[in-house]
Amino acid sequence: MTSECERAVELLRVAGRVTALTGAGMSQESGVPTFRDALTGLWSQYDPMELATPEAYRRNPARVFGWYLSRWRKARAVGPHGGHRALAELERAFEELIVVTQNVDGLHRRAGSGEVIELHGSLEAFRCFDGGHPYDIGHIEALAPAADSEVEPPACETCGSPIRPGVVWFGEMLPPGAVERAWHLVQQSDAVLVIGTSSVVYPAAELPNVALAAGAKVIEINPQETPLTPRASLAWHATAAVALPELTAALGFPVSDA
Ligand code: OAD
Repeated sequence: MTSECERAVELLRVAGRVTALTGAGMSQESGVPTFRDALTGLWSQYDPMELATPEAYRRNPARVFGWYLSRWRKARAVGPHGGHRALAELERAFEELIVVTQNVDGLHRRAGSGEVIELHGSLEAFRCFDGGHPYDIGHIEALAPAADSEVEPPACETCGSPIRPGVVWFGEMLPPGAVERAWHLVQQSDAVLVIGTSSVVYPAAELPNVALAAGAKVIEINPQETPLTPRASLAWHATAAVALPELTAALGFPVSDA
């Protein structure tokens, strides 16, 4: 067992309530790109102001809609890895373990995690731009391009407004209730696992600070340093697909590789 894993087990043995806060690094080993990694991150290839704001959508709805359709298709084509499955399994080790994710790819749910709070929405929940009326995901398949080309968004069947992805864009409010629930959870948690996030996008980046202020242990799992690293109770420099199965096995709940 690595020394980081030993220390994590020590910190978690006495924990009853645990929150796992995850970011794009959690899905990286499934083949979903992160945002800020220098060469492979989405924001090193695309300008977020051209793709991930309401203004960008108003300027060029077909470009933005097409880009999200291609992300949706790519996310559907991959599956959860051993780290996602280990996190789902870890629910058995504690009185409560709830996942709070910034990811929109649905991989935690597909791995079997029980409650997942999606702070930044979901690629699988389309709705109309003006009225917020939900749009049947069943219609999306026929529209989704293989590559990220422009796709004119369909019109809402209720009000005619164009359809947009159900993700949170820069400058938008997070889903009602999600932040409050996440805040409450970390305040009540004995330990918070912070996995694969650069800890720079707020309000999610504030959650580990809230946890620390309330006396929780914060275990960061990330191969790189982040602004959280100096304050974390433990900085475990490993990837999610390596650290989480090791941790789960060390706590007595091994997952198979299947
Ligand atoms: P980032 O791309 O900012 O950060 C990913 C983090 O994951 C980095 O700290 C990496 O070092 C780490 N990482 C990379 N590979 C990893 C692996 N295999 N295992 C563990 N960690 C790994 O992604 P987020 O922090 O999730 O928001 O970004 C937050 C938000 O910014 C996103 O939800 C998105 C983006 O703009 C919106 O689109 C609103």
